[in-house]
Amino acid sequence: MLTSQMCKRDVLTSDDFVRWAERIRPSWDFDHTGVPVLVHRKMWEWLFIIQALFERGMLQPGRSGLGFGVGQEPLAAVFASFGCTVLATDMAEDRAREIGWTSDGQFAADLDSLNKYGLCDPAGFKERVSLRTVDMNDIPRYLSGFDFTWSSCAFEHLGSIESGLQFVERQMRCLAPGGVSVHTTELNVSSNDETVDEPGTVLYRQRDLRRLALRLRLRGHKIDLDFKPGETTDDQHVDVPPFSNVHLRTRVQEYVTTSYGLIIAKRGRRRAPTG
Ligand SMILES: C[S@@+](CC[C@H](N)C(=O)[O-])C[C@H]1O[C@@H](n2cnc3c(N)ncnc32)[C@H](O)[C@@H]1O
Repeated sequence: MLTSQMCKRDVLTSDDFVRWAERIRPSWDFDHTGVPVLVHRKMWEWLFIIQALFERGMLQPGRSGLGFGVGQEPLAAVFASFGCTVLATDMAEDRAREIGWTSDGQFAADLDSLNKYGLCDPAGFKERVSLRTVDMNDIPRYLSGFDFTWSSCAFEHLGSIESGLQFVERQMRCLAPGGVSVHTTELNVSSNDETVDEPGTVLYRQRDLRRLALRLRLRGHKIDLDFKPGETTDDQHVDVPPFSNVHLRTRVQEYVTTSYGLIIAKRGRRRAPTG
């Protein structure tokens, strides 16, 4: 079973991940060239979320999922294709435009765009997926009782290190007992001391994620952290402009950063799928 981790190259080439990459191929191989799975951290993030939820029995009819800051990612459509009911959310459009999320195609402008690659049959998508505006810094109380929650590459953009950590803690309220939460974010791999903590983007240090894990465990939730970096050349390569076709680590200011995936199980007994 996957745990919260950063190791990527070997995971990306595993049978499970390759199977998911094929399932979402229309979302990354736009010209249908049949190229091998991209060695890219964004690909790893999406496949990590899919595999973590699949392993935990979340991707089946009768399960419900809540996604935050979904942008144009393919995940809502994939989850719906398994029969899950999905509430996809993103920030208010005028605010997203101000910040710049709309101009680089990383914002969920409308529901249809979430299935633009046809990953879910249109009727099933229409029946099971909805889109709503939700500010991750102010999650409405009525969002509760979901089997799973997720976000990809979003909570590092909430204003500060602490805002992102508070988001992860607060969104646990949205889950039913025993529910599963999977999130990916930025991990600073060059320093556990100095880092970027600016309104646009933050880079989490190991110590921030350890602090988060402690806070979650104190509330009775379950989370294990693994900071093994991955030993392959691809895991170690730091990709800077002009970018190569191996993009698992990059540089932000003077720090090397990669993606980290968090998997949290809410305290309590997991229920069976409904319906
Ligand atoms: C880097 S994009 C990632 C998009 C998508 N999750 C993906 O993996 O491609 C960050 C996303 O977070 C959203 N976002 C940023 N701040 C937010 C906030 N306060 N509340 C909700 N969504 C937010 C943006 O609108 C955007 O969709």
